Amino acid sequence: MCGIIGATGDEGVLALLLDGLERLEYRGYDSAGVALDYGHDLYRARAATGTGSLADLRKVVENVPAGVTAGIGHTRWATHGHPTETNAHPHLDCSGKVAVVHNGIIENWRELAAKLRETGHVLASDTDTEVFAHLVEEEMASGSSLANAVRSSLREVRGAFALAVIAASEPGTIVAARRVSPLVVGMGDGDNPMGLLASDIPALLGHTRRFWVLDDDQVVELRPGQMRVTTLAGKVVEPTELQVDWDIEAAEKGGYPDFMGKEIHEQPRAVADTLLGRLLADDTIGLDELRITPDDLRDIDKVFIVACGSSYHAGLVAKYAIERWARLPTEIDIASEFRYRDPVLDERTLVVGVSQSGETIDTLQAMSEARQWNAKVLVISNVVDSSMARVADGVLYTHAGPEVGVASTKTHLSQIVALELLALYLAQLRGTLPAADARRLFGKLEELPALIETVLAREDDVAAVAGQFTKTRDFFFLGRHVGFPVALEGALKLKELSYLRAEGYPAGELKHGPIALIEPGAVVVAVATRTRLWEKMMSNIAEVRSRGATVLLVANDGDEETAAEADAVLWVPETEPLFAPVVDVVPLQLFAYHLAALHGLDVDRPRNLAKTVTVE
Ligand code: G6P
Repeated sequence: MCGIIGATGDEGVLALLLDGLERLEYRGYDSAGVALDYGHDLYRARAATGTGSLADLRKVVENVPAGVTAGIGHTRWATHGHPTETNAHPHLDCSGKVAVVHNGIIENWRELAAKLRETGHVLASDTDTEVFAHLVEEEMASGSSLANAVRSSLREVRGAFALAVIAASEPGTIVAARRVSPLVVGMGDGDNPMGLLASDIPALLGHTRRFWVLDDDQVVELRPGQMRVTTLAGKVVEPTELQVDWDIEAAEKGGYPDFMGKEIHEQPRAVADTLLGRLLADDTIGLDELRITPDDLRDIDKVFIVACGSSYHAGLVAKYAIERWARLPTEIDIASEFRYRDPVLDERTLVVGVSQSGETIDTLQAMSEARQWNAKVLVISNVVDSSMARVADGVLYTHAGPEVGVASTKTHLSQIVALELLALYLAQLRGTLPAADARRLFGKLEELPALIETVLAREDDVAAVAGQFTKTRDFFFLGRHVGFPVALEGALKLKELSYLRAEGYPAGELKHGPIALIEPGAVVVAVATRTRLWEKMMSNIAEVRSRGATVLLVANDGDEETAAEADAVLWVPETEPLFAPVVDVVPLQLFAYHLAALHGLDVDRPRNLAKTVTVE
C-alpha cells in the first residue's frame, strides 16, 4: 500500500512530484522515490529513512539538471520486502531504461520472478513490483510500444494494483493502469497542459480540478496535452470525468501544528456539514442521493455493517441505533473476518460498508462479496467516487473534508452521524419512528456541533489531565452500551498515537477475566456519562477502585455524584444517549493527542500505520 504520482510536461515536473508525494504520505512513508525522464535517459533517486524519507529525497534531487520531460514518484508502505532503499520504488528493468511505481500487490510475482530469472533477468529487490518493469522490458525488446508492453504485461499479473511506467525510449510519455487500487488522472491548465496521475485527488489539486477516474483494467497513456484511455485489449474508451471543487487550503494545516490538531477542531464543522440538507422541515430525513429506492429499503429484513478500525467503532454505535429505532436485526463485523466466514445474505439484506477512504481493501472486498449474494450494498464514505462508491448500489457521503492525519478523528464523528441518519431514515421508512420522537431527535442532532465545540474549548483542561498520566504504560478503557465503542475508540487512539498499551472492554465483561489485571497503580478510563446503564457502570467503577485502580472518568457536566468516584474527570455536555458517542469520544481524542505530544511523538504519522490500507 503506497501512493503513486506522475506528470508529463516541459517544466515543473519534479516539484509537482515532490509536493504531491507530501500529500500522499498518509498512504505510507517507509520510503520515497522518483524516476525522471530526460528524453532517452532515465534518472532515479530514492530514500528510505521512514518519516524522513521525503525530506531526504528532496536533498538528493536538489541539484538535478533541468530538462525533465516526464516523471513518476512513489511513497511506500512496505508489504513485500523490508523498507530499505533497494526495495524503494521506482523499480527499474535490467537496462535501467524502464521505471515503474506501484501501489497494491502483484499476487503471482514469485512465479513471474522465477520465469524472468530463467530467461536471464536480474532482479535487484525483494518486491513484487519489480517483476513488472522486467515484463515491460521483455515486451519492448520484441518491438512493442510502451503502451502495448504495459497492456500485455497487465494480462500476466494477478492482484490489486495501480501502477505507472515510463521508458527512456518514449520521452514525455507515462503509461498507467489500475485494477482495484485507486488511480485518478488529470490534465493541467494552459496551452500545453501537463498530463497528471495520482493515487488520489488531493495530491493533484494545486494543478487541476478536472479529473478522470479509471475503471478496473483501463490503461491511460499520458503525454503533455494528450490523454488516451484504453481497455487491456487496446480499445479506446471514454473515461468518466469528475469536476472537483475542494479547496486546496482545506488539505493544509490551517495554522495548527499538525493535521490531527486541525482535524480535531474541524469536528463541529464536519458534523454540521454531514447533517446539512438531510433533516427536512417536515420532520423527515431526506437521503435522496442514496441510490437505493425507499421500496427496496422497506423490504430489508436484516442489516450487516462491515468496516475496519475507527470506522468499525462507528459501525458498533450504529448497531444500537438501527435496532433501537428501525427495529431491524443488525450485525456488525470486522471486514476482514466477514468475507471469510460465509455470512448468510440475500436480496433482503442491507450490507453497509463504512470507510472514510472508500478504499480499504478488506471493506471493499467484503462489499464485493455481499454483492455476489445479491444483498443491497451501501457505502458510507468521505471520498467522492471512491472504489467502494463504485462497487456499492448506494452511497451516503460524510462531508468531513479531506482527512490527512493517519488516526481518524473528524471522519469518525461524521461516520457516526451519517449512520445515525441512516438508522432514523430506515425507521421513518418502516414506520417505527413517531413524528414527535423524530422532531425531538432532529433537535438533538442539530445541537451536536455546539456540544463538540464546548468540549474543544476545554482542550487545556484535557491536556492538563494528560499531563498526570505521562508515566502510565497500561490503560484499560471501559464502557457500556454505546459507551463501549467510545471506550474502544479511546483505546485505539491512545495505542495509535502514544504507542501505549490500551485495552477497550465492555465494562460488564471485566469480571470475566480482565479484572485479574487490576492492581494498585492500574489506570482505568471509563465512559460514565448518563446513558442507560450509568448505575451499572458505576458499580464496575467501584469494583476497580476497590482494587486500587486510578480512575479517569468521562462524566456529564455538573455530575458531581460521578466525579466523586474519580481521580480525574473529563467533562462533556449531556445529549441524547444514542448520540452521546459523538460528544464523549472527543475528550478521549484530545487525551491521546496531548499524551502523544507529551511523549514527543509525531501524531500525524504514527509508526507502522498508514491512513488507507489497501492490502489484506
Ligand atoms: C487505517 C487507519 C484508521 C482507519 C482504518 C479504516 O487503519 O489508520 O484510522 O480507521 O484504516 O479506514 P477506512 O478508510 O476504511 O475508514
